[in-house]
Amino acid sequence: MKYSLQGMLFALCIAVLVCPTACADDGYELWMSYKKLEDATILEEYRQTFSSIVIQGQSETLSIVRKEAKKGLDRLLGADLPTGSTLTKSNALVIGASRQSQLIQKLDLSDELATLGPEGFLIRAIEIDGIPSIVITANEDTGLLYGSFHLLRLMQNGQSIKDIDIRSKPRIQYRLLNHWDNLNGSIERGYAGKSLWKWNELPETIDPRYKDYARANASIGINGTVVNNVNANPVILTAEYIAKLKALADVFRPYGIKLFVSIRFSSPLRPASNKNSRRGGIGSLDTADPLDPNVQEWWKEKAKEIYQSIPDFGGFLVKANSEGMPGPQDYDRSHADGANMLAEALAPYSGIVMWRAFVYDADVDPDRARRAYKEFTPLDGEFNANIFVQSKNGPIDFQPREPVHPLFGAMPKTPLMLELQITQEYLGHSKHLVFLAPMWKEYLEFDTYAKGQGSLVCRVVDGSLHNYHMTGIAGVANTGSDRNWCGHLFGQANWYAFGRLAWDHSLSSEAIAEEWIHMTLSRNNDVVKTIKSMMMGSWEACVNYMTPLGLHHIMQEGFHYGPGPDHAQGRQDWTSVYYHRADSKGLGFNRSSTGSQATSQYFSPNAEIFDNLKTCPEKYLLWFHHVNWDYKTESGRTLWEELCYRYHTGVDYVKAMRRKWAAIEKYGASHAAHIDQDIYLHVQEKLATQEKDAAIWRDTCLSYFQKFSNRPMPEYN
Ligand code: GCU
Repeated sequence: MKYSLQGMLFALCIAVLVCPTACADDGYELWMSYKKLEDATILEEYRQTFSSIVIQGQSETLSIVRKEAKKGLDRLLGADLPTGSTLTKSNALVIGASRQSQLIQKLDLSDELATLGPEGFLIRAIEIDGIPSIVITANEDTGLLYGSFHLLRLMQNGQSIKDIDIRSKPRIQYRLLNHWDNLNGSIERGYAGKSLWKWNELPETIDPRYKDYARANASIGINGTVVNNVNANPVILTAEYIAKLKALADVFRPYGIKLFVSIRFSSPLRPASNKNSRRGGIGSLDTADPLDPNVQEWWKEKAKEIYQSIPDFGGFLVKANSEGMPGPQDYDRSHADGANMLAEALAPYSGIVMWRAFVYDADVDPDRARRAYKEFTPLDGEFNANIFVQSKNGPIDFQPREPVHPLFGAMPKTPLMLELQITQEYLGHSKHLVFLAPMWKEYLEFDTYAKGQGSLVCRVVDGSLHNYHMTGIAGVANTGSDRNWCGHLFGQANWYAFGRLAWDHSLSSEAIAEEWIHMTLSRNNDVVKTIKSMMMGSWEACVNYMTPLGLHHIMQEGFHYGPGPDHAQGRQDWTSVYYHRADSKGLGFNRSSTGSQATSQYFSPNAEIFDNLKTCPEKYLLWFHHVNWDYKTESGRTLWEELCYRYHTGVDYVKAMRRKWAAIEKYGASHAAHIDQDIYLHVQEKLATQEKDAAIWRDTCLSYFQKFSNRPMPEYN
């Protein structure tokens, strides 16, 4: 066969044009690239199991299920499976809700389905009319979507499904992302480009990426999204923006995702004269007092207007009387007064209010860590039924490590929604590889002792401890317009882990890491083991090179990236010196009974354990105590020596991650472990930056603290 030169050039051009999306892995497909399975045994098992896909029923969600199941199976198996609505003689994947599927009705699963709720699913190997099938069924189509993604996850992980028998439902009802996206396209604390929402194009133009975003969330069970910043611009509630929100909600709905917005409490007011002001609104009232009938009416009308466009609108997230945002206290009303007024407006439509507990008014208490607890616990029982109080995991602000927020367990009559931060505001932005699942597990598994031993935070959040009538968890998103969504490829693992834990907080960090690596990077055992070993200790390492032993809030002011232990200007509780309190005697914030008494906000025995220097876990030492430089730590080293040691081990861990990443390069050639070259280099570069910047943290902090300790730098090798 002969080829003309032009023909070859033409083919080459086509290949170059097509390849970047069709061949190269640029991270866009996240954990859903469904690369063909390499393991011959498992591939054979799957091929025997599936020769067609049978879906009965019609809905937008089911069309998505059909497309996903086909794409996933075809790619994983290297096949082209027929899809239809009738079972022929061959083995099949059968998907349907009994409401719409006669095949499922034959199986008489109604008792089991009755336990699964609106989002749960059942996957089972079972014969239908004598034909071996794998069945995915659920009460609602969203359950079928979750079930399909779950099956594909198992297959991407090469698990045998011959005798599969799984029933699963989420432990938490509201599983939301919180986007801190501004209407001008910027993202507060976002490190992956611009906002995904192109407000200037909406509602006419629907970026295809909205669908991909919804699909990614559905694949990990996220069922709601707050699309705008908690420092809310009131314009989000204008008719113009409601039309844009409706367009987004319409895209998200078939993926089981509800849309929510952050609102500004002062929205009913006239616009502020200064555009940058956090005050002012979009209305014409002179007050936003929640007890004023005109204000109440304004919100009721606004809710009506929203629900006319978006009948399943989720509700409002509110940051009030915090960091300059307006709130009910401006009118001498309580947080409960403010939240209840909004809740009443939303209640007729089953909407909810998520009222944030991130408040730290200096007049409430000299210690910032004590303020939210003092403001909110007296209000327990005063909130309407459709209100969550949404609290960050710790009492300050998403620091590399904090003890658990004392509110958890202390509000038995108010559903608490846990707010985690996926975006790495204080954990190296999108420059550092820090796998956050171990951190979230530490919080979720913390025993509050609110109702005796076993009163874990996860039991507060999933409602089982206090019998909350509704439950929720939120993650501040790390997504943006970057092609790989999260800036750092490993940032994807945190988005993934958040969704997985929101669905089932009993999953281990290891299991989640393994799943994600298999689905995203490689299925080669050695490679998986190596990458997992990098991820698992990466959070502890980051704590060590930034804020070991309970140190906190010593980062560069405003930017929140590098170290700034000497920062002492401006608002006191934004300085570093307020938190570390270094002096010639020692280091740390005395929050014990001889200090601010923050320890007393915890239940016994935590209160006593934290209060006593000898029993306080070392990870919280300088959070709760001002400790003498010569204090002997558990290792036998003095505080000063231990501090130096920790900073060094943190940096060493990053060096080790670089070595490990370098070691997997050799697998690049083998198909089994193929990690795309661009991705490989991207991570390599990020790790180099991380090592450099971790060393800056170490050196800056140690040389600064040495001025107070007046002790020599110990030898470290
Ligand atoms: C932090 C963060 C702010 C954010 C705030 C909040 O202070 O730096 O950017 O607005 O938390 O959670 O409201």
